[in-house]
Amino acid sequence: MSAAVPKTFFLETFGCQMNAHDSEKVVGTLLGQGYLQVPTVEEAGLVLYNTCSIRDKAEQKVFHRLGDYKKLQKQGKQFGVLGCVAQQEGEKIFDRAPHVSLVCGSASYRKLPEMLVQIAAGNQRVTGLDDRETDECFETEFTARTNPHRGYITIIEGCDKFCSYCVVPYTRGKERSRTSDSVCGEARQMADRGYTEIQLLGQNVNSYKDPAGKMTFAELLTAVGEVPGIRRVRFTTSHPRDFGRDIVDAIDASAALCDHVHLPVQSGSDNVLNAMQRLYTRQQYLERIGWMKSAHRELSITTDVIVGFPGETESDFEQTLLLLKQVEFDAIFGFKYSPRPNTPSLSLENAIPDEEKSRRLRTLQEAQKAIQTSRHQRHVGRQVEVMVEGKNDVRGHWLGRTSQNKLIGFTVPDGSVPRVGSYVPVVTTVSFPNSLMGEMVL
Ligand code: SAH
Ligand code: SF4
Ligand code: F3S
Repeated sequence: MSAAVPKTFFLETFGCQMNAHDSEKVVGTLLGQGYLQVPTVEEAGLVLYNTCSIRDKAEQKVFHRLGDYKKLQKQGKQFGVLGCVAQQEGEKIFDRAPHVSLVCGSASYRKLPEMLVQIAAGNQRVTGLDDRETDECFETEFTARTNPHRGYITIIEGCDKFCSYCVVPYTRGKERSRTSDSVCGEARQMADRGYTEIQLLGQNVNSYKDPAGKMTFAELLTAVGEVPGIRRVRFTTSHPRDFGRDIVDAIDASAALCDHVHLPVQSGSDNVLNAMQRLYTRQQYLERIGWMKSAHRELSITTDVIVGFPGETESDFEQTLLLLKQVEFDAIFGFKYSPRPNTPSLSLENAIPDEEKSRRLRTLQEAQKAIQTSRHQRHVGRQVEVMVEGKNDVRGHWLGRTSQNKLIGFTVPDGSVPRVGSYVPVVTTVSFPNSLMGEMVL
């Protein structure tokens, strides 16, 4: 009898950090089921895409991929679509791409082992589509983390905010948190394995509600920061409505909590915020910025902005530009509004033409570049602790991240070779709009 041929899989991930971390858990689950991960589609028996549908472009990517590889089905390969497009499009994917045999949304990943058995048995239409039903989080002991020093922990899944433009409440199910005991347990386990940085994840991480009623979000941050061995705690993404002053107090009180908050504003105009159903006003947003600006340590503040939402006037847009100048963000992620299936904003009138959206996006990015160019200069001459991430082999310098989440390239004294994952002191010598350069000091 010949030895059993191992079942192989290839997985490509699109989208946000939640998806990246889900993929680590999916990979862990497949390895736990005896599958072997391979680096190319060609080598794989099972080809999986963990997909994103936040904007139309993201969604189209997966259909392009599926189109590219359709012919490989004849070689006996099986295809699966996971993540947000899977949940959004459901069984329609089988019609559009008949070579797909698995469609599974993120709220059904805990059923993956059963679904894998069905696929291996040759079932052509296996689905896991929970659609806002489940109360459970995807907790698994099999998480194949890709970085040995810095790792994610999901603390809350789903979203109940229903911003009028957004697919997430439909693709990721209802908001549900893990217990603080379970989160702290995972943090301790990671620290035991040598992790020093933890990033707590959630679509709205600060809407966290401990099902055991033990800890608030700010208390959970503090508790994770107190886990022996953990030197850095980050959290993303925060929602302005649920952003309490206690989060800034927690950062003030604990050096392990990083000097960075990502707080998406989306627009600087109350009219647009209202039409987006964002649940806060410009003034309330600025109040939260005020708390952060008066923190004991200097916090880096980053945000997301959508331009060209239906009905956004020139003066609404100018309010956003004004807000950028007022806050002086350290970085922004700007997006053109993309109409999404099932969302209420689809029926809004006064759509903005694409060329105008592009113009606003360019204007936004130019304004922000000027702000970042001057704002980043404050780092020059300062000494900060940097987590070493690796070496830029082309340029010969090292790369790392500061507590403020800035990417910094640095040179090292002759003969010293910093260990990846270690923390070294670096003095910044030059600033660029998106990064810094410096010298490691001994
Ligand atoms: N939960 C987070 C954001 C999640 S999605 C929050 O509420 O802030 C990440 C970003 O994608 C959003 O902040 C928003 O700026 C952008 N985005 C979401 N839906 C979009 C759409 N339909 N068109 C363009 N950008 C969108
Ligand atoms: Fe989407 Fe709004 Fe939920 Fe963020 S809070 S995930 S933008 S619905
Ligand atoms: Fe995309 Fe889903 Fe994340 S839509 S941004 S992968 S939550």
